Amino acid sequence: MIMFQSDYLEGAHPEILKRLMETNDIQRVGYGEDIFSESARKKIKKRIGRDDVDIHFIVGGTITNLLVISSALRQYQGVISPKTGHINVHETGAVEVTGHKVITVDGRDGKLSAEDVKMIMENHLSDPSKEHTVQPKMVYISFPTENGTIYSKKELEDIRKVTKEYDLYLFIDGARLGYGLASPDTDLTIEDIANLSDVFYIGGTKCGAFSGEAVVISNSELKKDFKYNIKARGAMLAKGSLNGIQFDTLFTDDLYFKITKDAVGKALKLKDAFTKKGIKLFGSSSTNQIFPVLSDSEITKLREKYLFETWGKNNDGKTIVRFCTSWNTKEENLNSLIEDIEKL
Ligand SMILES: Cc1ncc(COP(=O)(O)O)c(C=O)c1O
Repeated sequence: MIMFQSDYLEGAHPEILKRLMETNDIQRVGYGEDIFSESARKKIKKRIGRDDVDIHFIVGGTITNLLVISSALRQYQGVISPKTGHINVHETGAVEVTGHKVITVDGRDGKLSAEDVKMIMENHLSDPSKEHTVQPKMVYISFPTENGTIYSKKELEDIRKVTKEYDLYLFIDGARLGYGLASPDTDLTIEDIANLSDVFYIGGTKCGAFSGEAVVISNSELKKDFKYNIKARGAMLAKGSLNGIQFDTLFTDDLYFKITKDAVGKALKLKDAFTKKGIKLFGSSSTNQIFPVLSDSEITKLREKYLFETWGKNNDGKTIVRFCTSWNTKEENLNSLIEDIEKL
């Protein structure tokens, strides 16, 4: 079976493996204070054009979301998210386990808008008994979204403006950041992401690393005591150099950006193949996740050789499925799938 159901189906980029071997015998201190993590921090700061940020390496996405949100919020505060947001639908309520409500808005195409945030805030502030309800204090979005869509610079600037207006933190989940930034449709850069948020993260797990997300905090209110929370929640790796070495490698010679661009190029070929076949796509993803709408017989045919995820029912009765490409999608597997799409 050829697997396309996610973007973490393989190990790590060979450059990472090489670097892990090369550094294996070098002694290093623990808990992310090692020379490799420090070097990775420097490279990330340089790449995003910000020297004033704090950077922490965390092992995976769910724990990163939980840490960022639970560090930022007081007990009675909640986080606004699109209904489809990862923290709302795919993290077993991990944020809520920490005692913080996820306040959802329907949004569109996986995204929320500045108007959505404004509406929530106006409803909250105009409520005479607002103190009897959860206080919204943070906006969570992901780039790209759960549906593979991306915010435009204007949309993000508008959200930023409204979060400032209402004194909300803006948190961008970048578990697939590299794939979002590689979209031919984006007008955002990693510098913009850093400048238009209070905190964001650069996803490694889905973008070439075995593990690891690099949390970048620019708001000094959020920097304070973040490390206490990492340790208190059991998320501080003793061998923190594991993530440091991986990010140091990914941010050498722009590897992170090269490999994610390649993956998006492959996804777009796939998208093209479905479109040419007359198969509808759900949403408007131009990142590494593609969502064709297939009939039962098309699914059965493709399942003879390929694994892919079922995403949900479309309103025409057909099924939305998800195909992902990754930094390690093999050309021959992609071509084989494209040929089989053509034969459907
Ligand atoms: C946008 C986003 N955030 C966070 C996560 C969670 O990552 P992990 O599975 O490493 O906990 C995912 C995983 O699919 C994701 O897509």
